[in-house]
Amino acid sequence: MNEKLFKIGQKLISTGKLSTTEYKYLIDNRNEEITELLKNEAVKKRKEIYGNTVFIRGLIEISNICKNDCLYCGIRASNKECERYRLTKEEILSCCDEGYSLGFRTFVMQGGEDLHFTDDLLVEIIGEIKKKYPDCAITLSLGERSYESYKKLYDAGADRYLLRHETADEEHYNKLHPFKMNYKTRMECLKNLKEIGFQTGCGFMVGSPHQTTENLAKDLKFIEEFSPQMCGIGPFIPHKATDFRDEPSGDVELTCFLLSIIRLIKPTILLPATTALGSAEQGGREKGILCGANVIMPNLSPHSVRKKYELYNNKLISGNESAQEIENLKNSMKNIGYEIITDRGDIKEK
Ligand code: 5AD
Repeated sequence: MNEKLFKIGQKLISTGKLSTTEYKYLIDNRNEEITELLKNEAVKKRKEIYGNTVFIRGLIEISNICKNDCLYCGIRASNKECERYRLTKEEILSCCDEGYSLGFRTFVMQGGEDLHFTDDLLVEIIGEIKKKYPDCAITLSLGERSYESYKKLYDAGADRYLLRHETADEEHYNKLHPFKMNYKTRMECLKNLKEIGFQTGCGFMVGSPHQTTENLAKDLKFIEEFSPQMCGIGPFIPHKATDFRDEPSGDVELTCFLLSIIRLIKPTILLPATTALGSAEQGGREKGILCGANVIMPNLSPHSVRKKYELYNNKLISGNESAQEIENLKNSMKNIGYEIITDRGDIKEK
């Protein structure tokens, strides 16, 4: 074993902290041995905290209408081929009804930046879900909003907020986003969410166009310093109606390696094995769980709109991805030694 690589791995295991240069060295020089070591240690730490339990979240894709034009994303504003939809309050509530009876105790409302969803409307929806299901957590994933807006949503009862930082390198950020989107705004939003009191999630794509290992090292350093309660990572997968249509997909093995590292940086973190990971490779989500992830987010959106929320080519919408197939998912987790539980699934911070 490469002595230096091993030493860096040990430092990560014992302190959860590395310099950006060390993270980069780890990624650039990774081999089977270090991958195995970090994976085993990541699983060990996750088991000390969460045992073999896996938390589930019911994902409700409330709108694919988006004012943004992120270069990688299938629902970007300039994609004229995308058939747009938004759910009504009643439709969202009926997704929750179905989800609750399937055993979900967290509902994630995710959508494009759709101006139809004003603070007032969201406050109303959050209030109704909380009234009906006081034992459930609500996660929002609705993009960039003002401090005041986030505060209203939090005061209405939302518990968590997911906003991927996408990349912790400003130059790289500008290669993935149109001119009017701003790296500093995104970082400011994340800071605000945390300050307001949300359990906050950041995250990034693995293998996004123009990404270097230096960029990934910065992502890891950012996660170490920001210390989010949640972190969503998945491989980049091209979408046919974007300029990145011919770019290669991100690597599943590298994604899993990074999942182990993130678990070691923050052992208590809520770390999903994402839909993108499952879409990139059959059994991808199981691999993610075996490398230290502890959350899965099956799709609870109405069947009629699922195909339309297409962020990338061949996004999984059926099989174990579907909330309705939860029994299959439970079995597939059982087969690898894990157990899906009915629980809000909050972070266990020490
Ligand atoms: N491939 C993989 N992930 C994507 N996302 C958006 N487009 C793609 C793609 N082509 C991710 C982004 C976004 C999240 C909702 O989905 O990271 O934050």
